[in-house]
Formats: sequence, structure tokens, C-alpha cells
Amino acid sequence: MILEEIKKEGMAIINSPHFQKCLQTQHHLNTTIGDHMINVTIKSLEIANYLEKHNFKIDRKRLIIAGLSHDLAMAFARENYGKIQGKFTTAFRHPIDSARMASEVIEIHKKTRKAISRHMWPLCIIPPTSIEGWILTIADKYIAVEELFHKERKFKLA
Ligand SMILES: [Fe+2]
Ligand SMILES: [Fe+2]
Repeated sequence: MILEEIKKEGMAIINSPHFQKCLQTQHHLNTTIGDHMINVTIKSLEIANYLEKHNFKIDRKRLIIAGLSHDLAMAFARENYGKIQGKFTTAFRHPIDSARMASEVIEIHKKTRKAISRHMWPLCIIPPTSIEGWILTIADKYIAVEELFHKERKFKLA
């Protein structure tokens, strides 16, 4: 069900050349940036399911768009940030650039843009302000740990 929901709400992002490049770009040793963003989106919706049972109100579409877009700029890191500054610049700049790239594909609400551009908290200092932003930030870190320890990906969209 979660995969169907992601396809329904996120198809414009998934079909974009930005996302397609992310599916071809390696990330955390054994995954791609595209797969990582799908996994983060799935985890975000699982967290949302839990919170909704406890009467939290969550904009699930915002969560899907933010999850599928949050690392879009990572696939373009070498072109955008150069080899020398590499990882440090990428870590600080990719959230803002990913938000901009998502807005090139679809109209992005101010809150969605903020959720994307602050997902690297606490590195980026300013914390998320929305529930969706917090869920994204937590899901991203959870999935990063799984990926770093080579846990097999369970889901595929295609
Ligand atoms: Fe990121
Ligand atoms: Fe991420």
C-alpha cells in the first residue's frame, strides 16, 4: 500500500531526469541515491502511520514529495560542488539545492521546501519546524544507518 501511495503522489518526481539520474548514482556503498530516497520515503510513511494512530495530523503527500526529493542534488554533487571541496560542501549545500531542483519539477509548498532544506539537522543548525520535516530528518538518519551496515533493501518501486 505504501508503495502504491508513493507512486500515486510522487510520480512526477520519480519520472524527472533529476530522480532518474539519482537511480544511477551510487550512495552508501551498496545503494543508489534514488533507492535511498525511496527507502527514506517508505520509512517516513511508516513513522506517519504510527503517529496517526496517536492522533497526529500529517500531510502524507508533503512527506512523499520531501522524501523523494531530499537528496536530488547529491547526484549532481561533483558538477555542482567540485572535487576538492567535495563532501563538506555537499553536506551543507545539497539540502537547499535539492529543494530548488524539486521546485523545477513540480510546484513545491513553502513547508515542503523547508522540510527538504533542513533535513541535515543538526549539521545545518536550524531545525525542522513541521512534523513532516522532523519525520524526514529521523527517517533519513535511520535509513542511512541501515545502508551503512549493508542491510539489504527490501523494496523496489519498479
Ligand atoms: Fe541528505
Ligand atoms: Fe538522505
